[in-house]
Amino acid sequence: MNVRDSEAVEALMRAAGHEKAASEKEAELVIINSCTVRQKAEEKAVGKAGNMIAAKKLTGLMGCAVKRMGADVFKRLPKLDFAVGPRAFGLIPRIVAEGRFPRLELGEDVVPEGMDAHVEGGWQAFVTVLLGCDNRCSYCIVPDVRGHEYSRPAKEVVAEVAALAGRGVREVCLLGQSVLRYGVRNPAWDDGAPGEAFPRLLRAIAGIDGIERIRFTSAHPKGCTDELIDVFRDCPKVCRHIHLPVQSGSDRILAAMGRRYTREEYLAAVARLRALDPEFAVTTDVIVGYPGETEADFEATRSLMEEAGFDNSFVFKYSPRPGTRSAALPDDVPTAEKERRDQVLLADQEARGLARNARLVGTVREVMVEGPSKRNAARWSGRDGGNRIVVWDVRDGVPRPAPGTKAMLRITDAHAQILVGEP
Ligand code: 5AD
Ligand code: SF4
Repeated sequence: MNVRDSEAVEALMRAAGHEKAASEKEAELVIINSCTVRQKAEEKAVGKAGNMIAAKKLTGLMGCAVKRMGADVFKRLPKLDFAVGPRAFGLIPRIVAEGRFPRLELGEDVVPEGMDAHVEGGWQAFVTVLLGCDNRCSYCIVPDVRGHEYSRPAKEVVAEVAALAGRGVREVCLLGQSVLRYGVRNPAWDDGAPGEAFPRLLRAIAGIDGIERIRFTSAHPKGCTDELIDVFRDCPKVCRHIHLPVQSGSDRILAAMGRRYTREEYLAAVARLRALDPEFAVTTDVIVGYPGETEADFEATRSLMEEAGFDNSFVFKYSPRPGTRSAALPDDVPTAEKERRDQVLLADQEARGLARNARLVGTVREVMVEGPSKRNAARWSGRDGGNRIVVWDVRDGVPRPAPGTKAMLRITDAHAQILVGEP
């Protein structure tokens, strides 16, 4: 979400006549986009802004940390030039043009101007479809900083994707904190036609010429309806990957978190996806060390992760956030124990990722080509529909496939995070 918001700001600034500096050193103005989902993320953003101020740059801070701190942001950073909340980024070009500093714009539940601004070029794009979050999980600060849900009108989203396709974009990722709640708080479609809003949106986007792959993130088990699964079955453009944060495998902790599903319901959602396609990629987020998390709760998370057979997972150490319901509870799992649980889950995932990837050896995967591999420029890299990275050697004299085109690779070897293939 922040990557997308930053891109919109870049596009708006370019439209206002600015250029992107070749390096941080050469920049006259630096805008830091901040996250406050965990305390460390906020400290990092504020620290970076402090460094830019010390380097005498015109400095702006945007994003969730600004909304959390409010006017206190100027106590932390007295020489900050401007600060804008996560739904106020559209004001940045005007703020810079007016030059009246310091300036603070928190922007309550507004729809940011320039929501549909994109930087030219590239074959991939993020498109925000749902702003804010109304789920109010006990540990999460997102609803406080990103505000209430607002679903952008489907017509507007479809027009934006069609325009992107016209500019050469072939893969879109639809964004929302809990994107399957698209159309729940406010209607997204104005034609009164039946059907759930998000599955309908996927089908409409699948009908746009030039768009070859559609992804979305993040999902919630409550939204994994039959209608959604039908879309995966019917629309080959919709990638068979779901990022489905589970957070915990213990029913007691899930209830305390206010996640509104049980372990059993979560696993049933995964099973329905894998019944459609055994290679359906399922990835997740997990929090370790939630207040009161016992060894038994932790072991329940471990076993759930094994049962779900996650293709990848992101583990976070619990961080109390001011104003959230869980911040009132004692943060009673010691840091060293959070660290240990984190390491255990990482090691489990390494082994599980390897085992899941090993099943693909000998099969042919369709990948979208990304370009030279980051680690080894003699290798090419792409991703399959499940978001798995596939790398292959490019032989001298053989034309290299262009980024954003599709290639078929036979998988010859598997690692936990990477598949190796040959054309
Ligand atoms: N502490 C630790 N992790 C958190 N997340 C959200 N809030 C917190 C918190 N207070 C994690 C969740 C979410 C991911 C984006 O960040 O796992 O899915
Ligand atoms: Fe936070 Fe829960 Fe909303 Fe995700 S769904 S952003 S964890 S409140």
